[in-house]
Amino acid sequence: MAQLLITGGAGFIGSHTCLVLLEAGHQLLVLDDFSNSSAVALERVAELAGTRLQRAQPTLEAAPDALTLVEGDIRDAQCLEALFASAKAFGLPIQAVIHFAGLKAVGESVQQPLRYWDVNLVGSQRLLRAMDQHNCRTMVFSSSATLYGYPSPEQVPIPETAPIKPINPYGASKHAVEALLADLARCSGAAEAIQASGGGWRIARLRYFNPVGAHPSGRIGEDPNGIPNNLFPFITQVAIGRRPELTVFGDDWPTPDGTGVRDYIHVMDLAEGHREALHSLLRADPQMLTLNLGSGQGASVLDVVKAMEAASQRAIPYRIAPRRPGDAAISVANPSLAAQQLQWQTQRSLTDICRDGWAWQQANPNGYGDGCR
Ligand code: NAD
Ligand code: WQD
Repeated sequence: MAQLLITGGAGFIGSHTCLVLLEAGHQLLVLDDFSNSSAVALERVAELAGTRLQRAQPTLEAAPDALTLVEGDIRDAQCLEALFASAKAFGLPIQAVIHFAGLKAVGESVQQPLRYWDVNLVGSQRLLRAMDQHNCRTMVFSSSATLYGYPSPEQVPIPETAPIKPINPYGASKHAVEALLADLARCSGAAEAIQASGGGWRIARLRYFNPVGAHPSGRIGEDPNGIPNNLFPFITQVAIGRRPELTVFGDDWPTPDGTGVRDYIHVMDLAEGHREALHSLLRADPQMLTLNLGSGQGASVLDVVKAMEAASQRAIPYRIAPRRPGDAAISVANPSLAAQQLQWQTQRSLTDICRDGWAWQQANPNGYGDGCR
C-alpha cells in the first residue's frame, strides 16, 4: 500500500484510475478544483470500491482515509504545502503523485494561452517544488499524443522516438512539462544533485492517445462541459438524442474510408496502465519512463459510428463537413515499449468501448447532473 496524491482525480481519467488504485489497495488523497468535474464522480468511485469518501481541508483535520478529497488548486503553493505537511504529520507521507490536473481543450488553448500555460505548466512546477521539498520524488504525468503534432504517414504507428512538434498551446504546455521532468531526471542522475536533494526522481511521462469509454458499471464516465469537442462523447450524445446529428470533419483524408483515423483506448485500460507505471516506478531505482499508452489499432470516424450504432441499437445520423483545422489524418500508437516495460497492453476492443460508453450515457443522460460541478 502506498499513500498517493492524485491531482485532478475527480476528472474523466482520474476517477477511473482512482478506482483501479483503490482496488489495488492504495490510499488516495485527491486534489481537485472541480473546474471541469464533479465530486459526485468520486462519491461513485467510493461506492464502487466499497469505501466512503472523506472530505477534508488541505490541513487534514483527521488522518486520511482510503479516499480523501481536498478541494484546491495545484497552483496554490500554500495548499500544497499544507497537504504534504499534514499527511506527514499523520504518519502517512505522500509517496507518489499521479498528476492529471490540467486543462485539455485544444481550441480553448488557442483562445486562452496564458490560462493554459498557467494551469498546465506553472501548476505542475509548483506541485513538483512541493514534492521536492517533502522528499516525494515519484510522479506519473499525464502527457499526450498531441505532442507528435501532424505525424507523417511513415511514422504511423507512432513510436516514442517520433519528432515532438506540438501544434497548439495545449500541446506546447504538455511539452514544456515533459521537458521540466526530463531536467529533473537528468539532474537527479548527478551525484551532487542526489546529495543536495536527498534522492533521485522516478518519473513516468505517459502519452495517451484517445481515451474513451467508461467503467462497465455505467456509474462513472466522461461528462464534458457544454458541447463536446471530441468525437466519442459527441456520438453518444447523438445516440441518446441530446444532439440531432454528428458532423464528420472531412471524408477526403488519405485513409481507407476518407475519415480521420485514431487510436481509441478504453479508459479502464488506460487506468490499468497508470497502475502498472506506478508499480514499476515504486519497485525500481530512480528512472524516467516515457511511454505511449494506446491500443495500436486505428479506427475511423465511420468505424466508431458503426460500432456505436451496434452497441446502442440506434441510428446515428451524420453529415459530412469540411476538415477541422488542426486535424491530422491518422494518429495511431506503437505501444510496444509500454508492453515491454510494464507488461501492459490494452485488453478491451472498440466494441467494449462502445458498450461501456453507451451504458454510461444511457444511465446518466445528463452526466453527473446539473448543479453538481
Ligand atoms: P478532465 O478535465 O476530466 O480532468 C482534469 C481534472 O483536473 C478535472 O477534474 C479538473 O477539475 C481538474 N483541474 C483542472 N485544473 C485544476 C487545477 N488548477 N487545480 C486542481 N485541479 C484542476 O480531463 P481528463 O480527460 O481526465 O484528462 C486528465 C489529464 O490527461 C489532463 O492533464 C489531460 O491534459 C491529459 N490528457 C487527456 C486526454 C483526453 O483526451 N482526455 C488525452 C491526453 C492527455
Ligand atoms: C477524433 C476524430 C476528428 C469530433 C483530441 C486532442 C488531443 C487529445 C485527444 C488531449 C478526428 C473527428 C471529431 C466531431 C468528427 N487530448 N471528429 N466530428 O482530435 O484526435 O484528439 O483529443 O491530450 O490533444 O486534439 O480527438 O475526438 O476530437 O477527434 O468528425 O464532432 O474525430 O476530425 O478525426 P483528436 P477528437
